[in-house]
Amino acid sequence: MEGPVGHRYEAVARALEAAIEAGVHGPGDRLPGVRKLAAQFGVSVSTVVAAEHLLEDRGLIEARPRSGYYVRRHPWEPPERPAPSSPANEPVPVTSQALVLRVVQAAGEPGMVQLGAAVPHADFLPARGLRRAFAGVPARWGGRELDYAFPPGPYELRQQIARRMADAGCQITPEEVVVTNGAQEALTLSLRAVTEPGDVVAIESPTFYGLLQAIEALGLRALEIPTDPDEGIAPEAMALALDQWPVKAALLMPNFGNPLGHRASDERKRALVELLEDRGVPLIEDDVYGDLAFEAPRPWAARAFETRGGVLYCGSFSKTLSPGLRVGWAVPGRFRDRVEYLKYSGSSSTPAWPGFAVADFLERGGYDRYLRRVRGDYARAVDRVSRAVARYFPPGTRQTRPTGGFVLWLELPEAVDALALYRRALDEGISIAPGPLFSPSGKFRHHVRLNCAQPWDARLERALARLGAMAREAAA
Ligand SMILES: Cc1ncc(COP(=O)(O)O)c(C=O)c1O
Repeated sequence: MEGPVGHRYEAVARALEAAIEAGVHGPGDRLPGVRKLAAQFGVSVSTVVAAEHLLEDRGLIEARPRSGYYVRRHPWEPPERPAPSSPANEPVPVTSQALVLRVVQAAGEPGMVQLGAAVPHADFLPARGLRRAFAGVPARWGGRELDYAFPPGPYELRQQIARRMADAGCQITPEEVVVTNGAQEALTLSLRAVTEPGDVVAIESPTFYGLLQAIEALGLRALEIPTDPDEGIAPEAMALALDQWPVKAALLMPNFGNPLGHRASDERKRALVELLEDRGVPLIEDDVYGDLAFEAPRPWAARAFETRGGVLYCGSFSKTLSPGLRVGWAVPGRFRDRVEYLKYSGSSSTPAWPGFAVADFLERGGYDRYLRRVRGDYARAVDRVSRAVARYFPPGTRQTRPTGGFVLWLELPEAVDALALYRRALDEGISIAPGPLFSPSGKFRHHVRLNCAQPWDARLERALARLGAMAREAAA
């Protein structure tokens, strides 16, 4: 290794740091042993040891007894988390979600840096395995893929979904599953099954705009509940809301919710489910990110804690296998027959070919193999964007620290108008999701959500640097 002798260990430390930054050694990975590193860098073992001590002091790696050095899960201290939300405690009708369509359309434009819609870049998806599964469907299912797949959907797919749900702590049968066009349809059907127009639905704050669209389309009113960016809604906050308002359903994302990336503990899930079941309020659970925990095993669903059929679980393969498949499902508990009929009367059937292809992919074990790889990929992707935000965004910017999924939620200094930032960024070919989209009462005016499921390259880093500069100007 070049450089003055006294500084060799610093050069080694810099090289290792760059390798960690570049994802050669990702969060949780073990660094090669000291002898191997010494050979790789052409330095002595003591130089490597000194370099490792330096990286340890900087918080990048940690020693584990008799096992060596590991890259820390969060090899740096990101800025503070956003404050827990404190929405106005009053149900409001949901309107003006039209901007969402513009955000998702812009995200799909060629040449756009796609930090807006929560859609994984194709590089993250198991395209080859899926194509093979699609190609094999006609030979295996002999024409059934060309027919209508009426509700509840192909048995083989429901069987695979039932098996997978055991990983989420849910022991269910294929008969309990209704296949849908993505999670969005499962959520809308679940809402329709348990509410009438004008009813009040309790939601997280901020919440996924797709849920707000469903609430708007059905003429419901949304009650935003204070939400912690790490743990979601506290049972006490939910109890208070139920005391005050005639809540007809709760719509929650207990695992890596969008946009906060929060995760409720098992105790919290159990307490929320018990509370809602005691009060006779159905819980509609959106679990589309549950399989994307950065560390295995994936967390249990809230559905795992129900005893009285009051949870309507909604999932899909859109965030894992591919959003274009449109394969989702509901496990609607005691509302199963109603959801099945609403599915039939609303959209008659589900696309059969993708359903069979997914069933085949799951059955052959492709899904587990893929999840093992992609978990680390998403952890690294979120980590890199998070560091870039810390580097380029204005002082005082707060950000979430998710342990699954692939979105980051930023609270910018108050002077930054997220909608103006969104428009300026769009003019420069960068798409982001502005905070007010995530609230029916127009909160989160200085917040934005970033989609991190993008390959890390110079273009992405330039876009984040540019976005940070625009936010700095606005904050000044
Ligand atoms: C939290 C959440 N729920 C549901 C959906 C919709 O899923 P699908 O594409 O399967 O309809 C999304 C997509 O962005 C999401 O982020």
